[in-house]
Amino acid sequence: MASFSVSGAASDLQRRHLMHCWGVQGTYDPIPVERTEGCWIYTTDGRRIFDLRSAHECINLGFRHPKVLAAMRAQMESVVYVTDDFATAPTARLAQRLAELAPGGPNKRVWFGQSGAAAIEAAIKGARQYQYRRMIERGVANLDPARQYPYPYKIITRYRSWHGATAGAASAGGDPRRWFQEPAVMPGVKHGPEVYCYRCPLHQTYPSCDLACAAYIDRMIELEGGADKVAAVLIEPVVGSNGILVPPPGYLPRLREICDRWGVLLIADETMTGMGRTGKLFAIEHWDVEPDILVMGKALGAYCPLSATIFSEKVASAFDDMVFGHGQSYAGHALACAAGLASLEVLEEENLLARTADLGAYLGRRLHALAEHHPSVGEVRGLGLFWTLELVRDRSTKAPFRRPTEKYAPSPVRAVARYLLDRHNIYVPADKFGLWIVPPLVVTRAELDAVVEALDDALHLADAETEAGGHCGE
Ligand SMILES: Cc1ncc(COP(=O)(O)O)c(C=O)c1O
Repeated sequence: MASFSVSGAASDLQRRHLMHCWGVQGTYDPIPVERTEGCWIYTTDGRRIFDLRSAHECINLGFRHPKVLAAMRAQMESVVYVTDDFATAPTARLAQRLAELAPGGPNKRVWFGQSGAAAIEAAIKGARQYQYRRMIERGVANLDPARQYPYPYKIITRYRSWHGATAGAASAGGDPRRWFQEPAVMPGVKHGPEVYCYRCPLHQTYPSCDLACAAYIDRMIELEGGADKVAAVLIEPVVGSNGILVPPPGYLPRLREICDRWGVLLIADETMTGMGRTGKLFAIEHWDVEPDILVMGKALGAYCPLSATIFSEKVASAFDDMVFGHGQSYAGHALACAAGLASLEVLEEENLLARTADLGAYLGRRLHALAEHHPSVGEVRGLGLFWTLELVRDRSTKAPFRRPTEKYAPSPVRAVARYLLDRHNIYVPADKFGLWIVPPLVVTRAELDAVVEALDDALHLADAETEAGGHCGE
């Protein structure tokens, strides 16, 4: 075997040998990094780049928070990982903390994985197994052959959503990335209308719509066979990668009421919104709704891959005498759980939830003011430190620069993102609908001001396209 040697710059090696996520490999061009600190990435060629997407929402506490690093170092000296046939303090305590902190009674059970997608798979399987058991408990009348295959297996999700890239999770999402999974999709997923008031799929206006998009889900459950066929409704309380869509008041309570009426479970995917991103530990708390299953990931483990599927007592207790049909190597990783536990402590000690709410309100005001003199900004949306500027080709018609079928086409959004990186050292991956403004929660007000000023400058590129009638170029 040839001896192991590293030659060449990291960026060259990665360009040659790393499979870049969701990218065309031939144009992959990673920026070589020397170190990271707070909201900043320092490159080997002396640049200091502000991460306006918190490393895809993983780094809520900023890079290298000393308390989390210290907890990780200490944990590495004792146990890094053992299987869950053994008990370790960080795994046990994090499960207990999450069971207490997630909405609803404290007797929950938590499954730990390493990605949001794995946690979604656990949630879907858990929901189906729970409903299977309930079907058996309802008795033989329920096995009436006229009902034909009475097992409740369907999962209702929404078009504008993303739940991860593994087969089941990708099938559940409505994002165009699910097309890569087709036709080998997981059976049983039904996509309903998104809650997207700026572009209501039902052509209604809030509040006169009386939440028609929630009523549509009610209708879907009925037409899909009610509790005999539908296991769960799976939603992101605030949709992330499909547009940072904040639901209007009443929407999530209405969904909860609909699910209860049918005996269908409500699964909240807080992979992106958990760990304080919206100014509450969990976004769903803004609407006082208790999901039956809550999914976390990304920032939960701070610098370690860690996700959690939190089962309410109602669901968890169904498994007291039934096998939980899910598992994974490294589940309940002690080092990752120690990082997660320390992260929760930092959120509390540094009062980061209230700080996020305050700073987020300030940021929102600044973004709304900015939008007034940029014709390319169609809508400003957000909550806490989770904001977007949706950029449009035409403000009056709301015509987008790219339609969903053009997801990988060039657009002025990408040009604005490139300009922010090149001219202002601000990293924000361009997305299909607009610009993400999702800084680490430890961001300062001065840093936010600098970001808003940079956006003010960079938006001229999109404005020019809008004013010229919106030719879609770069
Ligand atoms: C809401 C939501 N759920 C699930 C996932 C999947 O998480 P992961 O990439 O860790 O598998 C994502 C990823 O972006 C997400 O935003």
